[in-house]
Amino acid sequence: MRKLTLLLIMALLVSVYSCKDTKPTEEEIKLQEAALQYHTLVEGLAGADRLPRSYNKETDELITSGTSWWCSGFYPGTLLYLYEATKDTLLYKEAMRVLSVIEPEQYNTGTHDLGFMMYCSFGNAHRIAPNDHYKEVLVQSARSLASRFNYNVNSIRSWNSGPENFLVIIDNMMNLELLFWVAKETNDSELFNIAVAHANKTIAEHYRDDFSSFHVVNYDPESGEVKVKRTHQGYSDDSAWARGQAWGLYGFVMTYRFTNDKKYLDQAIHVADYILSHPNLPEDLIPYWDFNDPEIPNVLRDASAASIISSGLLELYSFEGNKQYLDAAERIIARLSSSDYLAEAGTNGGFLLKHSVGHLKGNSEIDVPLSYADYYYVESLIRLNKIKSGK
Ligand code: GLY
Repeated sequence: MRKLTLLLIMALLVSVYSCKDTKPTEEEIKLQEAALQYHTLVEGLAGADRLPRSYNKETDELITSGTSWWCSGFYPGTLLYLYEATKDTLLYKEAMRVLSVIEPEQYNTGTHDLGFMMYCSFGNAHRIAPNDHYKEVLVQSARSLASRFNYNVNSIRSWNSGPENFLVIIDNMMNLELLFWVAKETNDSELFNIAVAHANKTIAEHYRDDFSSFHVVNYDPESGEVKVKRTHQGYSDDSAWARGQAWGLYGFVMTYRFTNDKKYLDQAIHVADYILSHPNLPEDLIPYWDFNDPEIPNVLRDASAASIISSGLLELYSFEGNKQYLDAAERIIARLSSSDYLAEAGTNGGFLLKHSVGHLKGNSEIDVPLSYADYYYVESLIRLNKIKSGK
């Protein structure tokens, strides 16, 4: 089976690269292998109007979600990245099918995750093949997201809660990409200002002096005052939950991309340095699920945090030129591409990466594949390939 898969990969590579005078790069080969692995995921989903979320290896079951789950954009987004890298039309067709499934979410004003859901999906689709319809979906999605902004708090509401609370999580930095993109495309200064205000408030209230981040800040929605800073998915209120640090890093590099304001680049550099110099970061740079779990080293790693960090570091390097960030990203990608993390073809339910942690304390998605770990791993491969090939 393994031999047959390898032969298939070689045949594909020959056909894709026969018109080029150069050999495929290491990253291009990995992307081809990833595209083939995603055929397994496409087959497993079998045309359902649901999205792959994870996989249960004990029961050999694909775990899926509905469209309103925060991860619904990652599967089409990964398919689109892989199509872009390999021209595998089966993946493009599947992406198009799934886009129409998640499209109604553009009107969802009950979540802050529209950036993940709609930008990773429709944003990539529009980048590859721009069209007015995708743009309209993105504009509507941005409006829905912006409806959650509160001018007293100067932030977008993350999680819904009682009227006396206004919860913002560090993850929300990621959703600003949708606002920034639509603001730029449509010259909408209000959307731009909302995204900037949210980023500024996040620097002011989520970050500690050492540039680690709280997970959740609860504000008074009337006065805008901070009520409490705490965790939800991390080890403790004062700890550094690994994926939260990853979202912050990526979010501030992206904010710099759209604003050109050095304040955000500096913030990203501080966060990157916090992560990379942390005494509890293992030698292979795949973080434990929380930097401050006292049971380290006998605790789980989080491949999803690693893949988000590697992608963020690559964009940081592209702006900043510090080779330390490129080297770190390359080491993370190499480790994620080893058989300890990268699934053997046809296994893992068709997901690429093993060993992510969704919500340890909530006893949910522990040491499993997750759609977003795959998305940012593939994005990392594409970004690294661009940097190395100078394209
Ligand atoms: N944004 C949710 C998470 O990172 O688990």
